[in-house]
Amino acid sequence: MKLTAPPVALWPARWALWATGRVSALVLPWLLAAAGIGAAGCDAGPAEGLQPEATRTADPLLGQRLVTQYQCGSCHAIPGVAAARGIRGPSLEAFGRRSYIAGHVPNRPEALVRWIVQPDALVPGTLMPSMGVSPGDARHMAAYLGTLR
Ligand code: HEC
Repeated sequence: MKLTAPPVALWPARWALWATGRVSALVLPWLLAAAGIGAAGCDAGPAEGLQPEATRTADPLLGQRLVTQYQCGSCHAIPGVAAARGIRGPSLEAFGRRSYIAGHVPNRPEALVRWIVQPDALVPGTLMPSMGVSPGDARHMAAYLGTLR
């Protein structure tokens, strides 16, 4: 009897160990997963607020194609756009570093979008015509012009 006593006395302790092992094996992954989801949710928030509304969904490569498609190059020399060697308008070389649009309007993405959609709404009497560009297309084109540095 004396020999069997210790193991019996240890049973509750063993069970407790086994039980905690089971519980943590089941619960820990859930806790980690929940923490992971929480962290991802936090990351998404601020990152979205960093970009200005006008360029948040803009795609410079698509903009480059649209600049070709709308034939902006018939009046402008534009780096990266084939056959864009027009001279009626100013060269758009390094436009991303320019301080002003048409010498008047601070060169911000939102203003550039408005300029491309309807230039004379921004600078009355300007020689650049409205080209029937939708605000969506203008957003992409503004993003492309912003990459010219
Ligand atoms: C019919 C000729 C013509 C076409 C086509 C044209 N532009 Fe222009 N653009 C001009 C002229 C002229 C100016 C100068 C306007 C001013 O200074 O008032 C100008 C100015 C600009 C400016 C400001 C340049 C600067 O130095 O401040 C940008 C940006 C611009 N155009 C983008 C475009 C884009 C993008 C397109 C195609 C959707 C386009 N243009 C199509 C004639 C044109």
